[in-house]
Amino acid sequence: MTTTEAITPPKVQDQKMLIDGKWVDAVAKQTFQTINPATGDVICRIAEGDKADVDLAVKAARKALESKPWRNMAPAERGRLLYKLADLIEKNARELAALETLDNGKPIRDSLTSDVPSTAAIFRYFAGWADKIHGKVLPVAGPFHTYTRHEPVGVCGQIIPWNFPMLMLAHKWAPALACGCTSVLKPAEQTPLSALRIAELALEAGFPEGVVNVVPGFGETAGAALASHPDVDKVAFTGSTAVGKLILKAAAETNLKRVTLELGGKSPNIIFADADVDAAAKFAYFGCFFNMGQCCCAGTRLFVEDAIHDQVVEAIAQRAKKTKIGDPFDHSTAQGPQVSKEQFDRILGYIDAGKSEGAQCLTGGKRVDRPGFFVEPTIFDNVRDDMKIAREEIFGPVLSVLRFKDLDEVIDRGNKTMYGLAAAVWTRDIAKAHRVAAGLRAGTVWINCYNVFDPSAPFGGFKMSGIGRELGEYALNSYTEVKTVVTAIG
Ligand code: NAI
Ligand code: MG
Repeated sequence: MTTTEAITPPKVQDQKMLIDGKWVDAVAKQTFQTINPATGDVICRIAEGDKADVDLAVKAARKALESKPWRNMAPAERGRLLYKLADLIEKNARELAALETLDNGKPIRDSLTSDVPSTAAIFRYFAGWADKIHGKVLPVAGPFHTYTRHEPVGVCGQIIPWNFPMLMLAHKWAPALACGCTSVLKPAEQTPLSALRIAELALEAGFPEGVVNVVPGFGETAGAALASHPDVDKVAFTGSTAVGKLILKAAAETNLKRVTLELGGKSPNIIFADADVDAAAKFAYFGCFFNMGQCCCAGTRLFVEDAIHDQVVEAIAQRAKKTKIGDPFDHSTAQGPQVSKEQFDRILGYIDAGKSEGAQCLTGGKRVDRPGFFVEPTIFDNVRDDMKIAREEIFGPVLSVLRFKDLDEVIDRGNKTMYGLAAAVWTRDIAKAHRVAAGLRAGTVWINCYNVFDPSAPFGGFKMSGIGRELGEYALNSYTEVKTVVTAIG
């Protein structure tokens, strides 16, 4: 089967939530609708979780954590279930890609070639860790045998956003399950469908009931209930910095549950005059506009050295003009709609701010004249560091181009942000590349590339872009508690 074989928008039934291995309605019988952002039409209705549902799900996750099949399962067997889930995700790739494209609006070619395979790859990577998570024997003084155990942190509340719905689920579930934890996942209200389908596949893979639970619903209700639940041991959140603060506060005010946060960004992408300018321009476009600009690590501040400014801007503007915008189910579409009316309005507000603050709008600058939430790829030139569009996360197809003259200046300006998620530098001078990489306060620095991810490479933010790291061996720290065991042997 080729990846370009036609995929049509699937018909989707109304959905229940998964608690304790059963598909159930909300306690209050409430439902909400999920919308197709390419048309504005309702896709279906979803059971709407709130505090009472979160309570039931946390109870189920606690019971699963402490009872037999899961607690006593051999670590390698946990790994086998994760491998099986990865296989099932691949087996159902086209269906999952179609659900993601329908619910989120991302082009089908991205769902098929990026979201689904990356999701499966993350489950596989952590499947391999399941039986390799262990402590150490410590060389203590005195007649004592002292060792550490890395035990599951416990019941995890996991709250994810709508920009990469199934990928974010994998970031959360794969390490949690490899470590022997249990989960209550709250997908974003805009995009609940792929999580519910993957939960079904997790049951098919053989995860015992209650190990994974999915409670769809809104942030202020279901999300807040998870963050402030006294019997949740850890909360992992991806989303806005504003809500990240609320999560940390809720944890502080209840039980000091462990918190990891993966938040916003305003990532600098720096192109020096000695770079491969064609490649730099191509990836500057991709780095900002991929996924309709809805990436926490989007390279939205493009710093271009004076000497090549015109050449780079021209190349990027050409790409913007050539981008095929339209039906996300068309395999040739490169840009679909923004996820929601709310995001669409927000982005248009930022575009107006850019114009009124005096930035020069080179391409785009308005909505696309068709139904759905489409925004033209928008490039602002002559942006100053203090403009709103250069400071705040827009989360849409909007690029700010800033000029610079020398290395120390650009490191300094690159760091003048509350965020620190990602950054990139383009140059053929390796010493310069590594000086910049060392100078930028960001969780990931790409040299002569952009948006390169791997399940083994940790991802997360400095400063207000977050706390902790996802993916890689580092993620295991977030899902384990270290216990020191001391035995007198003298
Ligand atoms: P958000 O932070 O409100 O939503 C993300 C998730 O948090 C959703 O599941 C939501 O239901 C939940 N949530 C919201 N309020 C909550 C609360 N009080 N307690 C617990 N959970 C809560 O983000 P939103 O409103 O969808 O987008 C706003 C902005 O956030 C975007 O424009 C973008 O700048 C940023 N964002 C960043 C993301 C990232 O990947 N770092 C992803 C999504 C949004
Ligand atoms: Mg919100």
